[in-house]
Amino acid sequence: MEYSKTILITGGAGFIGSHVIRLMVNKYPNYRIVNFDKLTYAGNLKNLTDVENAPNYAFVKGDICNREDLKNAFEQYKVSDVIHLAAESHVDRSIEGPMEFVMTNVVGTVNLLQQAKDSWTGDNHVFHHVSTDEVYGSLGAEGLFEETTSYDPRSPYSASKASSDHFVRAFYHTYGLPVKMSNCSNNYGSHHFPEKLIPLMINNIVHKKPLPIYGKGDNIRDWLWVVDHASAIDTIFHGGRIGESYNVGGLNEWTNLDLVKYLCRLMDQKLGRSEGESEELITYVTDRAGHDMRYAIDASKLESELNWRPSVTFEEGLDLTVDWYLANSEWIEEITSGSYKAYYESMYENR
Ligand code: NAD
Ligand code: TYD
Repeated sequence: MEYSKTILITGGAGFIGSHVIRLMVNKYPNYRIVNFDKLTYAGNLKNLTDVENAPNYAFVKGDICNREDLKNAFEQYKVSDVIHLAAESHVDRSIEGPMEFVMTNVVGTVNLLQQAKDSWTGDNHVFHHVSTDEVYGSLGAEGLFEETTSYDPRSPYSASKASSDHFVRAFYHTYGLPVKMSNCSNNYGSHHFPEKLIPLMINNIVHKKPLPIYGKGDNIRDWLWVVDHASAIDTIFHGGRIGESYNVGGLNEWTNLDLVKYLCRLMDQKLGRSEGESEELITYVTDRAGHDMRYAIDASKLESELNWRPSVTFEEGLDLTVDWYLANSEWIEEITSGSYKAYYESMYENR
């Protein structure tokens, strides 16, 4: 079959990447979708069992830090477009070891930009870089991050993502590489690795383990369902303007404590537990170093220019998410029985 595009999606075996792959493979049978992923601790091909046999899907095990891996994939598949999601993505891990974040998020991104620049001629290409709102730093009680907000990253993770964003813009301005960028707020949904707040709490509630709240639990995050992030990426990839960045979010701010309490109530109902039972598991632990206070996204550019909207409320999305985790206990058990145990002990024991 002649494909009209061949999109290399990096990090497609991760949380968000697997949702982007699912959407693209199913919605665009005339595109070939190549998942390029190193399969780090966060990459899991079991996230993609429903599309792995699709005729327009291919998997390449490769490292964005390795130019040969990239060159081979670009040549073998004649890659016409890139959606770049591969990254080290967890703030707590970046505090323990920043260099891995510099290597993958900065050096890996520059390698990929370089490969696209060397491989592509003409106008018919898009390099879509997926980034985070954390590059803008931390908000006080008021205000929202806009596309024009100055970058002010404060964790090693956000510093590495900010640096990658700068390189993407540099390749646009210097070499004319046709880039598009998106900066999204915190995602939640199925297939989310249980080092992050929501899946970690769901798993601990199921197992009646302590629910570790950093500091007082008054930090605020702005949550978006991962399927809506995938649809925003689709929208921007196809309709966004070259050289532009778009903020993605759903105006859905929660303090960590309120969110965990809400999850406790929801799960007590679903698990047939008595009201208030799970809330008793809440445990306040030492705060994260340099913990950003508040993130909140203004997505009005994406809404007005490209007519994108989130498809579910937070309550609906969380309900679907909890149901997925309860129905897929073997997915999380496989993860938590491996090296996750050592991670959990080092991060949470004696905290
Ligand atoms: P994740 O940690 O779940 O997945 C990352 C994926 O990248 C994994 O499959 C991993 O194997 C792969 N990977 C890591 N290093 C690689 C390398 N050197 N070469 C090839 N593949 C490699 O991350 P996620 O939460 O799905 O985030 C995806 C992207 O979206 C990241 O760029 C992240 O910064 C961004 N983002 C995440 C969120 C969020 O809430 N999770 C919000 C906004 C933006
Ligand atoms: P996280 O899911 O790691 O995302 P990010 O740091 O990128 O926003 O954390 C979300 C919020 O939850 C953040 O304020 C830190 C807090 N948190 C806890 O209180 N306890 C935990 O065990 C974790 C993982 C996070």
